Amino acid sequence: MKSVRIALLSVIAIGLIFSYTFAAGDAEKGKSLFNDPKFAGGTKACNECHPGGRGLEKSGMKKEFNMGGKKQLGLEEAVNYCIVKANKGEAIDPKSEDMANIIAYIKSLKAEMPKRRGY
Ligand code: HEC
Repeated sequence: MKSVRIALLSVIAIGLIFSYTFAAGDAEKGKSLFNDPKFAGGTKACNECHPGGRGLEKSGMKKEFNMGGKKQLGLEEAVNYCIVKANKGEAIDPKSEDMANIIAYIKSLKAEMPKRRGY
């Protein structure tokens, strides 16, 4: 009986670890989406206007955006704004894995800033 309980607990623990990694997003995957002109059904890559993520270094820390004269509450909304208006694609689910990856990539940009500055 005890081993069954341990087995069950391990399954739950592994599940939690996986859901955490998923929620945290993968910056490398996000970067390839960022460079993909077909991302979200669009015709342009994010990278064409934000080369190497330029201009987005602080976006990962912002809670509110103001694009096109409208307020966006959160990075997910800001990303979807660009997907629709700039990439001419379809807004993606804010809770999707793609969104988590794009956001992980944008958040990783600020970590690279000191390196870039210190050339
Ligand atoms: C056609 C050019 C273009 C493309 C393509 C583009 N963007 Fe943008 N993006 C902009 C411009 C211009 C702004 C500033 C908008 C404003 O301030 O009104 C911006 C702003 C943003 C911001 C908010 C920056 C801030 O901190 O205020 C984010 C986040 C962003 N873009 C992400 C993306 C992502 C992710 C993609 C790809 C899905 C993308 N952009 C594609 C032009 C583009």
